[in-house]
Amino acid sequence: PYTTLFRSKGKLVPTRDLIKTPEQIEGIRKSGVVNTGCLDAVAEIIRPGLNTQEIDDLCMQYCKDNNAIPACLNYEGYPKSVCTSINEVVCHGIPKEEDVLEEGDIINVDMTTIVDGYYADASRMFIVGGKTTPEKEQLVRVAKECLEIGMEAAKPYSFVGDIGHAIEKHCKKYGYGVVRDLCGHGVGIQFHEEPEVLHYGHRGTGMLLVPGMVFTIEPMINMGTYKVFIDADDPYGWEVITGDEKPSAQWEHTLVMTETGVEILTH
Ligand code: MF3
Ligand code: CO
Ligand code: CO
Repeated sequence: PYTTLFRSKGKLVPTRDLIKTPEQIEGIRKSGVVNTGCLDAVAEIIRPGLNTQEIDDLCMQYCKDNNAIPACLNYEGYPKSVCTSINEVVCHGIPKEEDVLEEGDIINVDMTTIVDGYYADASRMFIVGGKTTPEKEQLVRVAKECLEIGMEAAKPYSFVGDIGHAIEKHCKKYGYGVVRDLCGHGVGIQFHEEPEVLHYGHRGTGMLLVPGMVFTIEPMINMGTYKVFIDADDPYGWEVITGDEKPSAQWEHTLVMTETGVEILTH
């Protein structure tokens, strides 16, 4: 890696602590296994009539049963164990009994587990009742493609900006908005580490991607405007909503960079 770091002089390069040891990667991988199991369990219960507090309860219980800690709980004042973001909620939706799922809703469930101190962060979309409008179905599909295209663009010794560029390009075909106010991030030893992984931007910009780096890609794709807001009357000030209140979709994986490309640690 040192030769490569030298060759990339003048570009942003990762500090040593961002390149995980094999032991650290194994720890994050174990956390990823619990994370995946938790989201699989969520998938089993999603149905019309379920409220999002019940999703939170399940995630809490799953963590307890698997010696994990839900990283969201009490993180910078966040009150729950998981994020549940329905339709026009972009991310950080707070589980609550009043939020009852209806057939055709699209919901993102975003879970971060801590196992033996190692963080893994992943989210998926679910279509409540299995079917929704063709428009929302396409949004969910394209958001997933954006994650996949981002992962393909993340080649060793490429740049973080290559990821955002590829995602933005795919999104443009559909006239969707790529959220700019929130981004992916390094992860593993802490919840949010460097680098910031923007889901838009230019090739060759941002940090050099070096084997051993662990980070998320988590594009938030809006059916309409890329702009988002937080309601001033929201008691917690967490939930992020689309500017035009049209739906939004997001998928997230925790990834480790290898000499051949990224490997998914959360599936
Ligand atoms: N899991 C989210 C992410 O992908 C962060 C949620 S922070 C919380 O980065 F406090 F809202 F839980
Ligand atoms: Co997340
Ligand atoms: Co994340």
